[in-house]
Amino acid sequence: MRFSVLSVAVLGPITALAFPASDVALDKRENLCSLKEPPAICKPDPKVTVEETAARAYKFYRAFVVDGDPRTMFSLIDSAYIQHHPGYASGPQAIWPLFCNGKPMGTEASTSHCFDATSNMSYAKYSTTDRWRWVDGCVHEHWDQNEVIPSQDKCFKAKGTKAKLLV
Ligand SMILES: *[C@@H]1O[C@H](CO)[C@@H](O)[C@H](O)[C@H]1NC(C)=O
Repeated sequence: MRFSVLSVAVLGPITALAFPASDVALDKRENLCSLKEPPAICKPDPKVTVEETAARAYKFYRAFVVDGDPRTMFSLIDSAYIQHHPGYASGPQAIWPLFCNGKPMGTEASTSHCFDATSNMSYAKYSTTDRWRWVDGCVHEHWDQNEVIPSQDKCFKAKGTKAKLLV
């Protein structure tokens, strides 16, 4: 379902009151292929902490893998996006046509996510396994060949966060 900016502004607070935040996040699928480039990308900020980066890494996984939410996904990718997948140029623009349609890769139950705070790498495992390096709060570099997601004991666990957000 697509909303205009105006209807989001009007409905947003009502929706937020009517549903817990976790339910709202489940219905973000959006096809943005009418746009020639991402509506917004990530601005690096050296003040972003490891904890905040971990939260953003989970948000990125949700947007990309589970929700099919290219707006949020690309808002977390910086302008460099150094690409190690053969045949693809670096930069968010090169992968926009692949992900603008908001097609989810799987459910949270059928896929997995990890943020390794010792390396600032995040991982998503679905039909393939991706690895991304985070710099200054943004996704900065990407690999997807022969990657292995770390075991869950290596993954960042935020205090007070629901366990389901971390697997
Ligand atoms: C990870 O990122 C934090 C800041 O976000 C930085 O202080 C730290 O040095 C980084 N660690 C590595 C291993 O790059």
